[in-house]
Amino acid sequence: MSTLNFAIIGTGGITLQNHLPGLALCPDVKVIALCDASPTTLEAARQQTGAAIVSTNWEDIVTRDDVHAIIIATPNFLHPAIAIAAARAGKHVLCEKPIALNATDAAEMAAEADKAGVRHMTAFTYRFVPAMRYLHHLIGQGDLGQPYHYRSCRLQDWGTRNLGWRQQRKLAGTGELGDMLSHRIDFAHHLVGPMKRIVANVGNLTPIRGGAPNDTDDWAAILAEFVNGASGVLESSKLASGMNESWRSPDRVEINGSAASFSFTTGTWNELQHGVLGGPGFKALSIPREFYVWPGSPRDPGVGDPLISFRYDQAIEFVNAIREQRPCSVTFHDGAQAQAVMDAAIHSAETRAWIEL
Ligand SMILES: NC(=O)c1ccc[n+]([C@@H]2O[C@H](COP(=O)([O-])OP(=O)(O)OC[C@H]3O[C@@H](n4cnc5c(N)ncnc54)[C@H](O)[C@@H]3O)[C@@H](O)[C@H]2O)c1
Repeated sequence: MSTLNFAIIGTGGITLQNHLPGLALCPDVKVIALCDASPTTLEAARQQTGAAIVSTNWEDIVTRDDVHAIIIATPNFLHPAIAIAAARAGKHVLCEKPIALNATDAAEMAAEADKAGVRHMTAFTYRFVPAMRYLHHLIGQGDLGQPYHYRSCRLQDWGTRNLGWRQQRKLAGTGELGDMLSHRIDFAHHLVGPMKRIVANVGNLTPIRGGAPNDTDDWAAILAEFVNGASGVLESSKLASGMNESWRSPDRVEINGSAASFSFTTGTWNELQHGVLGGPGFKALSIPREFYVWPGSPRDPGVGDPLISFRYDQAIEFVNAIREQRPCSVTFHDGAQAQAVMDAAIHSAETRAWIEL
């Protein structure tokens, strides 16, 4: 099997945390090129990977003949231009979420990548959580019955610190909505199906963060009606003081159906809570071992912190989809579908109205 050569555009936080360790687990994969606008960040990633080709200009990288696949992990506003240029040059593309600043650009990315015949993937990393995959499996085999309610609550304590590009709407698009709620919008689509209409609100309680202006939302909430009649309530905040961050903070998904209810919290990656209609209540349900890693992943689930290491399966799935010449499990179309809900949420908040999707 020939070696797949990767380039990474944007070598900041998520590249070091997720993408490089994930690619390191993939056989016959080499990171040969790196790009970051910051020479210091670029040099740190070069030292870590030994990549021979580095540039501060992404246009130098995405059209190279020796590059087969690209990971885009820049601030959000850059995603569409890089993804479209890479797809047109015949490169497979894994793009960080939110894949664009609006649904029109996201749909164009999906159309261009389809037209070019390349593999495309949105980094909805939580699709790879073992318990969430098991939940999807149980719903698929009918254990939930008819879906009634989807609920997600993501609460973090980011305080009032400066968030850099994340607090500038022109670079990030939105704040908490795109940062965190995008994952849960995608998961709602994955578990329940498309939404029919939503009403939403966003809030900015920190117009100054770390001494600099913040024109993005630090709280977002959506009330949704799904096409199949189920309801959804989704909330996410950066201002849940004292509740910690990332995988140490509350992150709950619940679903109620005609036959049963399930709930999941990130802190217990290998367990769901489960109760059946008329039963005695919620009880822990262990995740079978075959769900500990993504199908086709060589990752040893006993190695590393399981609250982090599931994320590496994302790169593995991308590589396997390229090799097996099949669509990725999460495509740009999923990214665009979530983006349409985010656009509708902003529109709803501005107009104080329900928005049809
Ligand atoms: N999937 C997830 O769970 C997850 C988690 C964190 C971040 N993200 C996403 O990943 C992306 C990056 O986030 P991050 O936390 O790594 O941010 P970051 O600020 O740590 O890294 C972004 C990097 O992009 C570089 N950059 C800026 N302009 C550039 C340009 N023109 N060309 C090349 N590089 C450029 C910056 O110098 C920086 O090093 C965002 O889209 C974010 O939403 C996703």
